[in-house]
Amino acid sequence: MTTPRKLISGRSSVSFLPELLKELNLKTPFVVIDPKVKKANFIKQLSDFCENSFDDFGTNPTFAQVSDGVLLFREGEYDSIIAVGGGSAIDLAKVVGLTAANGGVAEDYFQGKKAEIQPVPVVAVPTTCGTGAESSPFAVIMSPDVPKKRGIESSFLMPTAVILDPESLVSLDRVMIAATGMDAFTHILESHISRKATALTRIVSKGLLCSVRESLEKAVKDKDISALETLQSIAFTARLLYPRTGLSIAHALSHPLGAFTGMHHGLAVAMFLEASMKFNLPSCTDSFQEAEKVMGFSCGGGLLSWVRSIIEESGMMAEISDYLASFHSLSIERIASEALESSNIPSNPRKIGLTETCEIINESLADFGR
Ligand SMILES: [Fe+2]
Repeated sequence: MTTPRKLISGRSSVSFLPELLKELNLKTPFVVIDPKVKKANFIKQLSDFCENSFDDFGTNPTFAQVSDGVLLFREGEYDSIIAVGGGSAIDLAKVVGLTAANGGVAEDYFQGKKAEIQPVPVVAVPTTCGTGAESSPFAVIMSPDVPKKRGIESSFLMPTAVILDPESLVSLDRVMIAATGMDAFTHILESHISRKATALTRIVSKGLLCSVRESLEKAVKDKDISALETLQSIAFTARLLYPRTGLSIAHALSHPLGAFTGMHHGLAVAMFLEASMKFNLPSCTDSFQEAEKVMGFSCGGGLLSWVRSIIEESGMMAEISDYLASFHSLSIERIASEALESSNIPSNPRKIGLTETCEIINESLADFGR
């Protein structure tokens, strides 16, 4: 299992960044930072590093933005990258580091070119509690002209070091805490019911399921700092499972929907979760009921009702519904076809085809008032 070489966690742990860089012998970092995070107070602790930071990208970073980042990196005398933000900033930084070290353009590596040289070291400072991009050998970059999100897996994409500071999360609004937290929860649940799950991965997923309910509820309700800290640790650990287990149709669908609509990944995952689980239930009854039990729900729907209540009470429901209402037409078949090309399909508990995938999309759209 590939993991970051260094992990520092806890409140105010970002203050250890200079020490960490010294320990890793990194002297001139290039900073990739989410533009929204750059404005937050948290970043004051990083201000020494942010003079020439790169922040010209959005929720779904594109290949053109990666090229801009690579260009800026090569223009300076940088020896490392500090990535500050959610999955978009961290994924972009990882691909910039891979491309800057190995040459060519990022698209080459998404079309099969193998990286041979160790990438530029990346220090990840996540500011959301969901994607787990900081502990993942994957990256997703958008081709806006198609439009399509493309994924890549390489052990070279694992960040060198990670700082998990829960104080980086307090500026998130409730919807984003819920959306990123629900993404982390879905990583655990999908890993737990995965066709590829093993005794070892289930030990880890069961442990994470034990604590995710309380921490997600408290974090969404009143931004409880201890709950945010737990959620951040859960998101980090959950992502370590994914290369072993894969995920399921809910994640497979989230990427094409995100590519077509620009919807945030966590919102898209939450939108498909309930209908996907209902479809898969006949093929993963035991593991799903085990998840319900571990989380303290009665078997037979308690878990899915809880998911629905988090979505409604956090404001995610209204945000997703508004988003969907702003699109006049969505090509259900195209979203379904692209989802079925996902690397998450072989691990989906139940065999699935185009008809069933379209049904899940339609059911999810109806759930959110479309
Ligand atoms: Fe995810």
